[in-house]
Amino acid sequence: MKVVLTESADAGAELVAERILTALRAKPELVLGLATGSTPLGVYARLRAACARGEASFKHVRTFNLDEYLDLPAEHPQSYRHFMREHLFDGLDMPREHAFFPPTEGNDLLRRCQAYEDRIVAEGGIDIQLLGMGRNGHIGFNEPTSSLRSRTRIKTLDERTLKDNARFYAEGEPQPVLAVTMGIGTILDARKILLQVTGAKKAKAVQEVVEGPVSSFFPASALQLHPRVEAFVDPPAAALLRMRDYYATTRGYELKLDAEGRL
Ligand code: GLP
Repeated sequence: MKVVLTESADAGAELVAERILTALRAKPELVLGLATGSTPLGVYARLRAACARGEASFKHVRTFNLDEYLDLPAEHPQSYRHFMREHLFDGLDMPREHAFFPPTEGNDLLRRCQAYEDRIVAEGGIDIQLLGMGRNGHIGFNEPTSSLRSRTRIKTLDERTLKDNARFYAEGEPQPVLAVTMGIGTILDARKILLQVTGAKKAKAVQEVVEGPVSSFFPASALQLHPRVEAFVDPPAAALLRMRDYYATTRGYELKLDAEGRL
């Protein structure tokens, strides 16, 4: 894993957005894996701005979101489909039918979870997977003890995740406790992974995930098994890293296409 210590959360967002825009220029039909939460908001604002300035086009891009709450309608303000429309898709020139989400409503979810996986493969696989991380080390909604080879499926949310997200629900409003999420195996199939982590409350998880053993107890530690991960960490989130001096001396590298035009 390449740890990139950034001066601030905003500087991290700038680097992540730059990576995506560079890849998009090289491959207009880029397949992106997308995350929700507050962490990627700075990246999404930059992608919208680049599109508005005419510097980037998402017309041929396909996107696959990591996760969505079970049985929460798309119009619900807390649904991830709503979040993505509001924070990204409404500002892009990407056709709506290019945005895919895990199945969370209706019947036959198990089969449709497999269909979601099949669709990712049919679109050529995910070129760049964007990730945030929960303070318990979750990625997507792969909570601690998730199988490191898991695929898209229903997960029960951890108490800490529910607590962190409770602020978005009105008092007395029921909060979903189940979600459908890409598995850790699904995430590890992406060609390149950009993880962004900010804030002091994630410092312990960052230390475990980057410098601890690979363990389903900190699901993001599975990223150690992937050959092309960059982790962009702001100073408060990096506070407990033991090898900070080393990370500060390593150089960044640019995304390059191989002869087949793949990332
Ligand atoms: C949710 C999402 C994750 C996200 C996490 C962190 O649980 N399912 O994909 O990484 O929240 O959220 P935040 O970036 O707001 O800390």
